[in-house]
Amino acid sequence: MLAQRLRAASVAKYNGVKNANGKYTVSFIEGDGIGIEISKAVKQIYAAADVPIEWESCDVTPILVNNQTAIPQPAIDSINKNLVALKGPLATPVGKGHRSLNLTLRKTFDLFANVRPAKSIDGYPTPYENVDTVLIRENTEGEYSGIEHTVVPGVVQSIKLITKEASEKVIRYAFQYAKSINKPKVLVVHKATIMKLSDGLFVETAKEVAKEFPDVSIDFEIIDNTSLRVVSDPKQYSDVVMVMPNLYGDIMSDLASGLIGGLGLTPSGNMGDKVSIFEAVHGSAPDIAGQNKANPTALLLSSCMMLQHMGLDSYAEKIQKAVLKTIASGKENRTGDLKGTASTSHFTEQVIKNL
Ligand code: NAI
Repeated sequence: MLAQRLRAASVAKYNGVKNANGKYTVSFIEGDGIGIEISKAVKQIYAAADVPIEWESCDVTPILVNNQTAIPQPAIDSINKNLVALKGPLATPVGKGHRSLNLTLRKTFDLFANVRPAKSIDGYPTPYENVDTVLIRENTEGEYSGIEHTVVPGVVQSIKLITKEASEKVIRYAFQYAKSINKPKVLVVHKATIMKLSDGLFVETAKEVAKEFPDVSIDFEIIDNTSLRVVSDPKQYSDVVMVMPNLYGDIMSDLASGLIGGLGLTPSGNMGDKVSIFEAVHGSAPDIAGQNKANPTALLLSSCMMLQHMGLDSYAEKIQKAVLKTIASGKENRTGDLKGTASTSHFTEQVIKNL
């Protein structure tokens, strides 16, 4: 069941070894806002489930190196050593001049593919039934390259950078991933009708990469059409792995979260060749931070993707089952984003009981 639900990191390799205590060390970036509360929930549940993991806290408070936002060296060293990290949300100040820490992390570790599954949660019905989508977002370039400047006052330019190299990597990953979860098709989502060069390169690269995978078919769809069709009938996308440039993936993955009940539920994995960082899709939710209201499910399910990546499938299965059972057990055990009345700590206690 877990394999079908969350298998995310099946095509990346984890070569970590146990530490002197017989456990795996994992870097933990707790994050801002609700990050503190949901990280605490994860730690409590992991302790109760006896997961053979020791957390290494990572401070990613940014520093400036050559006038550029950078991750402090001890955090880089920790993640490079442990090869895997779990990350709470990091707030990005709007228009304050320095680059988003999330982008910096993705760039620093070349986390080129962002895998985002969205699957209906049993016991929490939404207007959509049996949603089972997987979306892979290019994670390092596109509109998120951070190349912006003022041409003259009142006129600004923001560059969408697409390279063949990054496109090839994420598209190849999408094919490998589709094979690993037995999905017969990769769907390339784009807007090459308008962005003929940039999205055009993405599409052409996909056609080339597809030749390496004769047993997986390929199809193409324009992003606006995909948006319409996904919200009309998401089941049409159950048999495909979608892959798309950065901005489209960002938007479409929030849309997919909406189909299954909201941002509090959707996990993700940022995959690189060497290092992988798992994180909830949502942000730091400043509107509810510090109020014991946050839903830790997305971070918990992200951590289950991580466990699976590390080959700790049985623990992933155990935790995921307990989380889903808790959500299905009624309004009093669900957090406010799922129209429930539970606090973060009550939800956490219930998950522990259901382990
Ligand atoms: P957000 O995802 O933080 O919040 C959007 C809405 O969803 C809010 O009403 C919030 O209360 C709710 N929500 C989100 N996660 C929830 C959870 N686990 N439980 C219950 N309710 C939840 O998006 P917003 O407000 O646009 O961004 C806030 C900050 O987070 C910004 O600084 C943004 O840059 C940052 N951010 C960070 C991300 C990351 O670290 N990967 C991703 C998205 C945003």
